[in-house]
Formats: sequence, structure tokens, C-alpha cells
Amino acid sequence: MSDAFSPVGDMIVASTSGPLSGEVIVPGAKNSVLKLMAAALLADGKYVLTNAPIIDDVVIMADLLMAVGLQISFSPASPGEVGQHIEIVNNGAITPVAPFELADRIRASVNLVGPLLGRFGEISIALPGGDDFGGRPIDMHLRGLEAMGATFDVTPDGIVGRCARLSGAVIDFDFPSVGATENILMAAVVADGTTVIKNAAREPEIVDLCSMLRGMGCRIDGVGTSTLTITGVEPRSLQAVTHEVVTDRVQAATYIAAVAMCGGSVRVSRANAEHMGMMLSRFTDMGITFAIDTDGITATAPQQLASIDVSTLPYPGVATDYKPLIVAMLSVANGVGIVTENLYPGRFRYVEELRKLGADITIDGHHAVVRGVKHLVGAPVVAPDIRAGAALVVAGLCAQGITEISDVFHIDRGYDDLVGRLASLGASVSRIQAGS
Ligand code: UD1
Repeated sequence: MSDAFSPVGDMIVASTSGPLSGEVIVPGAKNSVLKLMAAALLADGKYVLTNAPIIDDVVIMADLLMAVGLQISFSPASPGEVGQHIEIVNNGAITPVAPFELADRIRASVNLVGPLLGRFGEISIALPGGDDFGGRPIDMHLRGLEAMGATFDVTPDGIVGRCARLSGAVIDFDFPSVGATENILMAAVVADGTTVIKNAAREPEIVDLCSMLRGMGCRIDGVGTSTLTITGVEPRSLQAVTHEVVTDRVQAATYIAAVAMCGGSVRVSRANAEHMGMMLSRFTDMGITFAIDTDGITATAPQQLASIDVSTLPYPGVATDYKPLIVAMLSVANGVGIVTENLYPGRFRYVEELRKLGADITIDGHHAVVRGVKHLVGAPVVAPDIRAGAALVVAGLCAQGITEISDVFHIDRGYDDLVGRLASLGASVSRIQAGS
């Protein structure tokens, strides 16, 4: 480890790896499980979420939901499954006041607003935290709920919302926001009358939420399309369910990026190719070959990656969460690639870290111009957020020498044993506990 660098907390150490081989099994998606957990506020009973990832954001969400009155416990996955089971008991004793210090830690805390207002007519919560990509407003969430009859007091600290029973409304989003779609959906399922969400987000994680809600007895039409029509029902007519969390497409893409950069061939089990269509098509343009079956994807690296231009877009476009992986891959591809960020203009903070590894990247507004170099060189870097942290680990595997990644608590928020899974594919990567 370098003397000049004194990180706090655990560190991941990656060194030159490849070719990778073997199988990695991908668990459920962070961006789904957190919302499914919030959905348990809507009806009394005992829920079980299977295929749930073992990640820190699940623990934070569980603490938050327990603070408002749910009982939550974790148990190991059954044989043949992956991840863990989350058992949630809702006995109806809910206090719709979320502790500010917990809500402030994850973006998905905003997902408590819809179900709590919808069922209990009241919510008090901090403005949501989470990854810092620049401004992450919630105006669309609040406007939609206001159209259904809620009123809000918003202060720099938090939101206090109130309503009598919400009423169905037609809500036409300016932009297909994932979080706003989920929040309005979870309010509308128990509102009085019919709600139509136009220009709704249609990410696989939203389809997963709709599927759980339908299993509970909610009435939702247009699932998977950009118009959702929701007919509200009485909360007491709903029932708790057991539900399997949809596979994490970003974790799946991370293992594909690792094999693409290190060489070799890897089976990514449980990855759903349908949910990754556009990304797999662009990976194919970079030279990666795929064999797809009903239970996963086998990815084989080319001799050298080819550069592409790519823009992030709402689903079914290339997700912004893939972008740090794409930029890392382009940094060793043949030629020049331009990556355009259309969702979070500030989401380029990790570029400085990739440059420390020798990547040639120029930022121009919301474009990153990436000129492929022959090889990256290991260096100490800092993970700025979940996805960028994982991309730095993967980049470290194809860099010459040793790359030390600090602030790995970001990675732990969204990745279920990234180090163990990469090591099982033959990657030279390990975790150094703080103080060892
Ligand atoms: C979710 C994901 C995040 C992913 C993002 C886009 C979770 C916990 N997080 O975040 O990993 O990167 O989708 O796929 O699921 N916006 C507004 N006003 C609003 C709401 C959003 O202006 O009321 C803007 C945001 O600032 C951003 C864009 O819309 O520029 C996309 O946000 P949104 O789709 O809502 O993302 P999140 O749900 O926050």
C-alpha cells in the first residue's frame, strides 16, 4: 500500500487479472428490493421477499421501515436460491413519521411518501439522500400527489404531507421519473377512483413492483408501458405476499464489463437479457459476444474492445447506472468513444479517478470523450458512488500493477459481495479490513 495515502474504512485491492472464467450468480436488484420493502406498508400481514441482495441499503431501508412500525428480519436463501430472504410483518401499527437521520441516507426513502400518504393520510420525512449526482429534485413526486389531493410543507430539512383519502387523477409527467412513477403508483393503488400516469417510467424494477402490487390485489393496467392505469381499492382488501426480486441488471453488467476488460468467457447466471437489451446490443458493438439462454448470459471478450458512442436514456435506453462501466471499458478500447449523459449532468465525478489510472477522458458539458489507451496503470483511487466504485474495481483488474480503491462503503450499499464474486471468476481482488 502506498505510504502517501491514508484511507479510512475498508479498502479493495485489485491487480492485473485475466482471462476470467467460470460462473457468477447475480442476486436481486437494489433498485427493486427497496421499493418492494416500502410496498409492505400498504397492507397488513407477513411478506417474504426472496432473491433479495445482501447490501447495506437494504439494512438502512429496513431500519427506516422498522422505525415507522414494520417488523423485519433476514434469513439465508433456500438451497438453489441466491441472496437472502427478507421477512416483513405489518401489523397495522404504523407511525408515519420517518426518522430524519435514516431517511437522509438513501434516495429510496422517498418511496415511503406514496404508501404512507395513501394509506394513513400523513407523512413526515427528511428530503431523500443517496448518491450525489448533483441536484435530485422530487418536484414531480409532490406535484403528482398534490393532483391527488395531498398538501405539503417543504422545508430545507424535510417534507410534511397530509391528505384525506387521495383521489384518482390524470398525471402527465414531463419526464419518465423512476421514483415519481413508483411513488404515485403506491399512492394510487389505495386511492379513491382511477389514476392514469402518462409518460410513466417502465424500467424492469417498476414492472417488478407492479407485479408484487398486483399479487397483493392491486388493480394496475398497462404494466411495462408508458401509461399506467390504476384503480384504487380499500387497503383492507389487500393481502401480504411472497415475491421474488427481479435480477439486478447493473450487477449483471458489471461482471460482463469485468470479462470484457480482462479477457476470457464468463457465465452470468440469472441475468435477464430482455431487461438488458439495449446495453447488450451496444456491448456487442464493442466486440463482446453473448450466448443467451433462459437462465443467464455467457459473455466472451474480444481480443480488443472497439470504441462506440453511447447516450444514457430512460428504459429501454442505456441506463445511466451502466455509464461508469461503459466509460471504464472505453478507456482501454480501440479508438475514441463519446458518452453522453442525459439524466444526471453532474454524474462524471469518477472520471478524475479513472484519469489517475491513466485513462484519457475529457469532459465537455454532459459528454465524456474517451480516447482508448493501451493499458491502465494501478493507483490509489476513491469510490465516489455505488456504480462508479464498482467500475473502478473492474478498471483496476485490467490495470498494470495494483489499484487500491477506498470509500468502499459506497460499493457495499448496492453490490452483494462484489469482491467474492469477482475472485470466484479468477480475478486478483481482495478486501482489506480497516486497521489490518
Ligand atoms: C432511480 C435509481 C437510480 C437511477 C435512476 C435513473 C433508485 C433508488 N435509484 O433514481 O439508480 O440512476 O432511477 O434510472 O431506484 N427528476 C426531477 N424531478 C423529480 C424526479 C426526478 O427533476 O421529481 C429528475 C432527476 O433529477 C434526474 C431524472 O429526473 O435528472 C431521473 O430521475 P429518476 O428517474 O426519478 O431517478 P431516481 O428514481 O431518483
